[in-house]
Amino acid sequence: MKHPDWVKHKELIEWVEKTAALTKPDNIEWADGTQEEYDRLCQLLVDGGTFIKLNEKKRPGSFAAFSDPSDVARVEERTYICSKRKSDAGPTNNWMDPSEMKSTLNKLYEGCMKGRTMYVIPFSMGPIGSPISQIGVEITDSAYVVVNMRIMARIGKKVLDVLGKDGSYVKCLHSVGAPLEKGQKDVPWPCNDTKYISHFPEERSIMSFGSGYGGNALLGKKCFALRIASTMARDEGWLAEHMLILGVESPEKQKTYVAAAFPSACGKTNFAMLIPPKEMEGWKVTTIGDDIAWIKKDKEGQLRAINPESGYFGVAPGTNEKSNPNAMASISKNTIFTNCALTDDGDVWWEGMTKEAPSNLTTWRGEKYDPNSGKPAAHPNARFTAPAAQCPSIDPQWEDPAGVPIKAFIFGGRRSTAVPLVYQSVNWNFGVYMAATMGSEMTAAAAGTLGKVRRDPFAMLPFLGYHAADYFNHWLQIGRELPNPPRIFGVNWFRTDENGKFIWPGFGENMRVLKWVVERVCGKAFALESPLGWMPRHKDIDWRGLENFTEEEFNDLMSVDSEVWKEEVLGHEELFSKLYDRLPKEFLFMRELLRSSLWRSPSKWGMEPERF
Ligand code: OXD
Ligand code: MN
Repeated sequence: MKHPDWVKHKELIEWVEKTAALTKPDNIEWADGTQEEYDRLCQLLVDGGTFIKLNEKKRPGSFAAFSDPSDVARVEERTYICSKRKSDAGPTNNWMDPSEMKSTLNKLYEGCMKGRTMYVIPFSMGPIGSPISQIGVEITDSAYVVVNMRIMARIGKKVLDVLGKDGSYVKCLHSVGAPLEKGQKDVPWPCNDTKYISHFPEERSIMSFGSGYGGNALLGKKCFALRIASTMARDEGWLAEHMLILGVESPEKQKTYVAAAFPSACGKTNFAMLIPPKEMEGWKVTTIGDDIAWIKKDKEGQLRAINPESGYFGVAPGTNEKSNPNAMASISKNTIFTNCALTDDGDVWWEGMTKEAPSNLTTWRGEKYDPNSGKPAAHPNARFTAPAAQCPSIDPQWEDPAGVPIKAFIFGGRRSTAVPLVYQSVNWNFGVYMAATMGSEMTAAAAGTLGKVRRDPFAMLPFLGYHAADYFNHWLQIGRELPNPPRIFGVNWFRTDENGKFIWPGFGENMRVLKWVVERVCGKAFALESPLGWMPRHKDIDWRGLENFTEEEFNDLMSVDSEVWKEEVLGHEELFSKLYDRLPKEFLFMRELLRSSLWRSPSKWGMEPERF
């Protein structure tokens, strides 16, 4: 099968031919990235029953898809880092010998695209031609993947123009693993019970089999932009992080960019698109990215970040006009919805979109919705795929090839105790220590372990392409090379009172914390010393519009209880003992320093002035 004449890369053509010989598709199509191609494939998906076209008046240019009930999320237990040496994958990753994995996969790939079209998608992670961007090529037998990739990444002919005849690219091979025999009718969501999401960091390649969903199938996202890119970043001296990037504009029009890492299910998209309370007049948040940041040092030693993606693959349930009006506007058109419920007038709905569910809903399983069934209408991991350019808060610099200057890193998890609302690390190294030991309490999704703290270093636990302790060393090394490193902050929106109620009044108020962060960075805000670092007093936070949140409540949110922290430090040791052979020696000293400052206090650290 002949490739189009705009494909000039000989080695790429050979790889495509070799893969076709193994997987035996009926056709090969090279994705050119045009609107015509997108429209044609969407129509194909409608005709095949994968897509339902939504009401053009309510949700123009949008579609709903429903996955197989067995294929609804990333599968961490089937995700492998196949480095040559097991020790390089580290104890936090699944590992298999690369040749063993390839021989397993090659057997599965044999004839796996029979009866299907093989699509070849050249894609750029990051603005095409940016010095921070990288190119990949995904081969897939899923048209659903092609149309989603066109939203999430820059794809098509223009990418190959940059790649030229012999540029390097990451090979991403994906199959849903559902060949069709002659005359066999296809299903709306083909997939396979056997799943492998495999990464070959030394080769910089990815092989995925069996799943058509999200990060398992859209290989530019978690597989490339985090797992493979983190390995590239280690080797080349940059950072590939599970971080949102936002800009904060002050009333004086001073812009400060920050990058923030939170584990899944901590409201990252909401934070990236934050609308400040109206009383904080003149403050504005702009969005560069909601999930991933690639960060490189420029000639002046300033870290600059790009969002490698060009769309949002966001969790739909819980998103509404109050929690995130910018996300709601972003998904008002040209959006693909997966596993949401359908209304009787051809629109989508999910739990939390409105207080009351509309009547006559059809669930993501295609059944009539029964509000008394106890079963949700939308799957809890239902997603929207929407173009980033549709976000009203998108930053004017979001596609700047040079990236934006990062002045602060923020790390946060879901913690009902221990971690205060906000603190600033005393220095880079201690910030790295705190990020490495951050954790999140399990949400209801992980039944049986509710409330247990899962250590999730840098929110990268499922996304690291190499040994976690080597990653910590890499972060320490980056800091050594920066003349004026960004300041590092910890935050926690999820602290609860003795009745289990959240103390912080909600996501919308996070601007108050963000303001203190950027003012610290600009040398404008006061802070007191605590065992964890620098902390605001009640009067250092802007309370306009939230005057009824009391100083006492604030002090509860900020308290650093030494008894709780002695336990917390033991939790750090649990992580360290797993990683001991490569752990930075600095960490052990920092742990002891932290311990000794906790011991300084007889009981509880509060924010009462006399304590300081
Ligand atoms: C995501 C995740 O889907 O972090 O972004 O799980
Ligand atoms: Mn994520």
